[in-house]
Parts: sequence; C-alpha cells; structure tokens
Amino acid sequence: MKILGIETSCDETALSIIDAQGDQNSPSFRVEKTALHSQIDIHKEYGGVFPSEAKRAHAQNITPLLIELFSENYSEENNFKISDEIVTQIKKILEREEGLSEKVLDFLQKTKKPENIDMIAVTFGPGLEPTLWVGINVAKALSLAWSIPVLPTNHMEGHIASVLAKADGDEYKIDINFPALALLISGGHTELIEITHWGKYQKIGQTKDDALGEAYDKVARMLDLPYPGGPQISKLASQIREKGGEDIFKFPRPMINSGDFNFSLSGLKTAVLYKVQELTKEKPIDDETRAQIAFSFEEAVTEVIIKKTHDALEQTGAKSLIVGGGVIANEHLRKNLYDLGESHSIDVFTPEKNLATDNAVMIAMAAYIRSFDQKAEINPEIIARGSLTLS
Ligand code: KG4
Ligand code: ZN
Repeated sequence: MKILGIETSCDETALSIIDAQGDQNSPSFRVEKTALHSQIDIHKEYGGVFPSEAKRAHAQNITPLLIELFSENYSEENNFKISDEIVTQIKKILEREEGLSEKVLDFLQKTKKPENIDMIAVTFGPGLEPTLWVGINVAKALSLAWSIPVLPTNHMEGHIASVLAKADGDEYKIDINFPALALLISGGHTELIEITHWGKYQKIGQTKDDALGEAYDKVARMLDLPYPGGPQISKLASQIREKGGEDIFKFPRPMINSGDFNFSLSGLKTAVLYKVQELTKEKPIDDETRAQIAFSFEEAVTEVIIKKTHDALEQTGAKSLIVGGGVIANEHLRKNLYDLGESHSIDVFTPEKNLATDNAVMIAMAAYIRSFDQKAEINPEIIARGSLTLS
C-alpha cells in the first residue's frame, strides 16, 4: 500500500510517500520520497515557535513541497479539468487558509492524478492548532480531488513508529518484542507509553510542565546560547564530561522518587535560573562556568529520565524500549538509554536522525498501523486537536 504522509503540527512542513506491507504486527516500510521545509530560521528570532508565523510559513511552503513530491506528475503545461463542484468544495475547505485554495487548485490543475496512492495520512494532533489545520485542510482537498481516503493520525503514534524505517529507500522490517515501552522526548513532549502490541498504546506518564527539549532550550536561553539550545547545551556538557568534570552545581532531580512515571522540569529550570542570576551578580558568566552549568543541568535531567524509564521498564515488564523525538540526538542520554536496555537485556530502538525530528514518514507509518483498526475515508470530518493524547 502506498501512503502520502502530511505533517504540519509544529515547525516542519513535511510530506512523504511510503510503501507499506505486511500485517499490523509485522509491518515493513520503504520510504519512496520526502519533501520537507524547516522553519527553524524563522523561529530563531523569537527563541521558540511562534504559532501565527508558523501557520503562515506552512501555508506558503506546502504547495511548493507538493510540487516537489509529485514532480513526475507535475508540469506547468498541464491543465487538468477540475469540476465546478469540487472547486467550490475545495474553496470552502481552504477558506480559512489565506491564499491557499488558489495555490492548491493551481497545483491540482497542473498535476496528473497519482494513480498509485492508496491513502493519505495527516497529523490531526497533538500540536499547534493553527498549523495542524493547514495540513488537515490540504489533506481533505487532495482527498476530494483525487478520491483518496484520509486517515487522521496522532503525532505521538508517529514518533513511536519512527523507528520502523530507514530513510535510504530500502525496504525495512524489524520485529519488536511486546510489550514495549516508548519514551518520547521532544521540544513539545516528554511521555512514557506502554505498548501491548502495535496499535495499542497507553500513556503511563508525562511531564507536568516543560518538555525535555523545551527545558534544554530555556536553559540555553539563560546562558545566551542560540535556539534550538539542546545541541548547544549538550556540546558544552560533553566538553566538561570529556575532561572528567564534576557536577558542581548539583541541580535538583525533580520527582525522581515520586513513585509514578510523571516528570516536572520547570523547578529544575528555575534552579538553573537562580544560579545564573546569583553568578552574574558578581561578574558575567565565563565560558567555563557556562559549560559547567550545562553539564550539571544535563546530569540532572538525564538521571531523572533514566530513573523513570528504568522504573517503567520494571513495572511494565517491557521486552523492548522505543525512543522517539528530537532529543534522542543527545549523545549522553542516548548512551545511558542503550546501557539501560543492556542491563535489562532488552532491545533499544531509536530512529535515524532525520526520522527523530518531526517528519511525515513516521506519520504515514503510524497511519498504516492504525489502518488495521480504523477505516480511512474520503474527505472525512477532521478537527485539529492541539492536546490530543494517547489513551
Ligand atoms: O522532535 P523535535 O525536532 O521537535 C519537536 O517536535 O519538538 O525536537 C526538538 C527538540 C528541541 O527542543 C531541541 O533543543 C532538542 O530537541 N534537541 C536536543 C538535542 N538536539 C535537539 N536536546 C538535547 N540534546 C541534543 N543534542
Ligand atoms: Zn514531534
């Protein structure tokens, strides 16, 4: 089955075409094509994602990305007829997306209908509602014009599925032993999810305030490091680690002994802020102190994440650990998670770099898994759900 994936939940406009085979419990995937626009440069200025700017950028970039994805079917010379009825409906679907209906209709006129796409997968939450609507409405328009059914897809199921492909175009199949535990760590989420088998997800813990990546980004800002701060902090922290440095600031490890699987990172962030304020009273923070703070912060968050994941593995009896989300790029945490897996004699699965951050390949894969339990429909009612969760 070929699936077109559409993802616009945050600051990446992402499209994909994948080929999916196999049954729900042993799916295999091949990435055929991807097109992506990242808004990182736009949001750098604000030090974070600014929803209305993000929405505008998605609306601006999604049709050029569609043209790129369907380049073989697209020609400026084409002029395919779209019925008046469909034109009217598409205009209605896209009426709130400024200027987008003209662009989508123009794309449809110049693009030969792709005969091989069986389903469209679109993220409907969680994420930023204004930006989710862009993807949803474009998915509905394409569904209507091309008569392809749509499956609304949970972004977090996407992050879980992100370990199931390689981006190199080869067919890829891995067998995951269930029950599995998923740890999802990104700029927007920090969650632990129990997976009894593919398609059956139960959230067992989450952050009560800041997400892990968000905490990294905020601490980075306190230290005058550019957005996104995660990679910057981890670079400084590893400089200290490499020379066998000491955790001199010993920041708190919030909720480490709370006995549940929830996280709270805002107290830790505040502790870092107070320390920075205290130190800057005397003199501006030098590079060495900045790196020491980054190191102590990273030690604290890593300890909390590892302890909670350890406890969740014990309680669920998980036979595999899946880790998804952009923060898996963090070398120190990654190493500790692999060590944790080894000490529990279980396999640890992490996505390739470009499937760890938000992408549409993972959305298409999650939709394939979900399609065994839920029917995709042509132009279905879909509502963007900013705080959609896994139940
Ligand atoms: O999954 P992602 O690309 O976007 C969201 O869906 O949020 O995650 C981005 C987050 C950012 O907060 C970024 O600072 C963080 O992942 N991040 C890292 C590292 N690389 C990216 N955090 C810690 N260490 C890293 N090496
Ligand atoms: Zn994400």
